[in-house]
Amino acid sequence: MPLARALKIKKLADALGAEALNVNLANVKEDDFKIIRDSLHDNGVLVVRNQALKPAEQTAFTRKFGEIQYHINDEYKMPGNPEILILSTELDAEGNNVGIPDAGSDWHSDHSYVDVPTAYTFLQSVILPKVGGDTQWIGMVAAYEALSTEIKDRIDGLVGIHSFNRFRNSRMTRLDRHGDGEAYYSKRSPPDAFHPIVRTHPHTGKRALFISPRFTLGIKNMDDKEAQPLLDHLFEHLIDERFIYHHKWQKGDLVIWDNRQTLHLALGGVKLPEVRRMHRSTVVGEIPV
Ligand code: SIN
Repeated sequence: MPLARALKIKKLADALGAEALNVNLANVKEDDFKIIRDSLHDNGVLVVRNQALKPAEQTAFTRKFGEIQYHINDEYKMPGNPEILILSTELDAEGNNVGIPDAGSDWHSDHSYVDVPTAYTFLQSVILPKVGGDTQWIGMVAAYEALSTEIKDRIDGLVGIHSFNRFRNSRMTRLDRHGDGEAYYSKRSPPDAFHPIVRTHPHTGKRALFISPRFTLGIKNMDDKEAQPLLDHLFEHLIDERFIYHHKWQKGDLVIWDNRQTLHLALGGVKLPEVRRMHRSTVVGEIPV
């Protein structure tokens, strides 16, 4: 009988990202699980190839990393499997979205708008379009390390204000599907969350920027006249080719990322009625310090 091939990890880009080959996440050996977790911490993003996990298998693998973090909205949780959030451009027979059609269309770290944000996100490609639907990640450790000493000193100890409410964020535009939007967001938005602008990773001990254009509205105890130009400067610095991994999805990809050291962006560009369908699960992290 031929021997099963051993799990292989290969780096994908300088700043962040690696791929894992020869593993079935539906039935992962404990040694392989540890290698996967460690390479995720080392690389920020791990692309696991050739998977076909059923929702219950994705949930079981996600749980190996910790407690499930449920999305604040019930709308697009998978019926019977609420641990999975459906992201999709599909419409049902009545013309309603079956999943979030435009999730992640601005740079962010998952659930940074709550007190205990997400540690890990798992995104499995289920149906891919011919064109569009790529995703990018920024390595926030590399972005932090590349700041000048002057800026590092200036932001040391500062606390960002995070909110889900798009309408309080002057950097965001209105999404048509939310109607006037005001009501949609004020009903769903949890109270503001406050997180250090620079956080220390609990496993690697590395420092990373922890702000995003989508969720960081301002800086605690700092007037917007000073805070907004400082945030603009940081966003301009971190959204840079040097720190980005660009992913073109392949059939069977399940991508895991560490939200404590990355931002991500769904690039869109899917030409309807082509379908992009992804299944997302998340694990709760810790209070950022
Ligand atoms: C997300 O922001 O969670 C989704 C990213 C993607 O669909 O590429």
